[in-house]
Amino acid sequence: MSYRPFSANWFTGSRWEGRIAYGADYNPEQWSRSVWDEDVRLMNEAGVNIVSLGIFSWARVEPEPGVHDFGWLDEVMNLLHEHGIAVDLATATASPPPWLAARHPEILPVDRQGRTLWPGGRQHWRPTSPVFREYALRLVRVIAERYRDHPALVAWHVSNELGCHNVYDYSEDAARAFRSWLRSRYGTLERLNEVWATDFWSQRYGDWEEILPPRLAATFPNPTQQLDFRRFCSDSLKDHFRAERDVLRSVTPAVPVTTNFMVMSNAKGMNYADWAGEVDFVSNDHYLNPGPRALDELSFSAGLTGGLAGGRPWFLMEHATGAVNWRPVNKPKKQGELGRDSLVHVAHGADAVCFFQWRQSRAGAEKYHSAMLPHAGEDTETFRAVKELGGVLAELSAVVGSSRARARVAVLFDWESWWAGELDSRPTWLLDYRREALDWYSALIELGVVVDVIPTDVPLERYEVVIAPVLHVVPNELSERLHRFVEDGGHLVTTYFSGTVDEHDHVWLGGYPGALRELLGIRIEEFGPLFEAESVELDDGSTGTLWTDRIELTGEDVEVLASYRTGDYAGRPAITRHPRGSGSASYVSTRLGVVGSERVLRTILDRAGVVSELPEELRGRVQLVIRHDARRQYWFLINRTERDVELAEVAGTEIARSARSERGGATSVIPARGVVVLEKPR
Ligand code: GLA
Repeated sequence: MSYRPFSANWFTGSRWEGRIAYGADYNPEQWSRSVWDEDVRLMNEAGVNIVSLGIFSWARVEPEPGVHDFGWLDEVMNLLHEHGIAVDLATATASPPPWLAARHPEILPVDRQGRTLWPGGRQHWRPTSPVFREYALRLVRVIAERYRDHPALVAWHVSNELGCHNVYDYSEDAARAFRSWLRSRYGTLERLNEVWATDFWSQRYGDWEEILPPRLAATFPNPTQQLDFRRFCSDSLKDHFRAERDVLRSVTPAVPVTTNFMVMSNAKGMNYADWAGEVDFVSNDHYLNPGPRALDELSFSAGLTGGLAGGRPWFLMEHATGAVNWRPVNKPKKQGELGRDSLVHVAHGADAVCFFQWRQSRAGAEKYHSAMLPHAGEDTETFRAVKELGGVLAELSAVVGSSRARARVAVLFDWESWWAGELDSRPTWLLDYRREALDWYSALIELGVVVDVIPTDVPLERYEVVIAPVLHVVPNELSERLHRFVEDGGHLVTTYFSGTVDEHDHVWLGGYPGALRELLGIRIEEFGPLFEAESVELDDGSTGTLWTDRIELTGEDVEVLASYRTGDYAGRPAITRHPRGSGSASYVSTRLGVVGSERVLRTILDRAGVVSELPEELRGRVQLVIRHDARRQYWFLINRTERDVELAEVAGTEIARSARSERGGATSVIPARGVVVLEKPR
């Protein structure tokens, strides 16, 4: 992995050295020159020390092909530097200017129905277009050469949220690139036919040119083709990132390069586990998913980002001070949430807290999206909260460079299982992979247990308990690692539809859960998915939805933790535990939701000897996330409730809280929608 984590020396040489980076996307091109002076004055007032600049400025910096106008950008860079604000400079390639699409309509993406995505929005480019790539890389080089020695430059921001709108392109360019991606993956057409199982439905290919992306078809396109297309789309964008990055590295080898990931509930297209090794530091954008589980989802996403960063510090590139503009109904944040959400990211390893965007746009599609400086100006609750957060982050300088302390329990997150498990033509279309993973995560927080979220390539032996919800795709290598983990004393919990297929989406034969059947000591002949309104009762008092399995016990000493009380499989096992080596492998055959998962986990954690670090009365109400360095631990205590929580029993020195308490100074309370950070010796 080429990962070069940024840390305390991130701002070496500037007056912000060792501070948490604080700032936003800054789009000065939307405002007149006089506004910029007010911007930097207010940025200083708020403690802003970094901005991402130039993200959507291609049309301004290259108004005609090959003609550049950098005067305004030079001025902004200088102004920011004079005010001690560092710049994460964008390569400006996120959205091509009108002249490029007019000259080269062949860069425009095409959807699965063959419809062109026209200019007028943003990100209207094909990830595989050689023409787009050429223009983009030319611009990247010009920008890199112009600003290579600018003292404000601290990092490069490649494009923006690669794949946000253009991940799936079905154009002719995509078809060509897909074929060559397949050729290098499979070598021969014979092998591709085998892997895609093309003898099914007369799909056998005789020539590479016959292969297409899975465009709108009469019925379900070949599932392996669909899975490979997803891999290919993720790879194509990753390839674009690498192409820009390599230009930047050739000009400024010492300046770290990143691109903002979208680890959040609705961004499924990019396999970030596979991207993480390509960036010099991981950065992420996160937008709260409103609803009762919003905070857990935020923590889960931040935890996964920390997992992708290998526990090292990462950069929160965007989140929102209040409402977004892109959901059907966009609610503002409640008082306290701006600070709380920011500190949840810091808890999971963020050494930067940035927003979209600095100043709320006056026009354009995002004018109703919140910002650090709202339409109503500086005399606002939002701007006061922004200034307050600047102060809180300054108090947290001690945590900069510290890593996330490893938890004893991890939830596995696997993009391949997400993709394959939710494809069409499955036993149920109601499966929501991410929701399932989140259920287990919430259940662990309810129990007061510190938990990591990790991609599958992380060494498992670091953990005592690993939860692998709906681990649908299990190649040989992963199966072996899971077996070894259990034999060596680890406790694995997995669920329905796991272990079912290999990396080609071919079923492991002999009964489900295929690759994990022997490890779990069970065998399943057929799946029993449930209708949306259907549920079953278990004899431990839990309710199951979505799925059931007819389980046959095959291993020695398999323990039945719960059986079905109702439904088609009444009287049969629903949850099993198989002691193996010095560990165990447990199987949960139905969707238990948070409460039911908690019940199972209590037993498993108990047997594994994992206990909560939190005093009993805080469990569930407070989530604990720990960072540490060589000498100290930082305990982030996140209030999950809408009420103040007494902190009495927890030892440590308070170093910060997400909002200053109304009672003034440090108190023994974690305020509703608040986070308190304690320092303790390690
Ligand atoms: C994304 C983009 C930003 C902005 C925000 C709005 O994160 O990167 O440019 O559009 O969404 O939420």
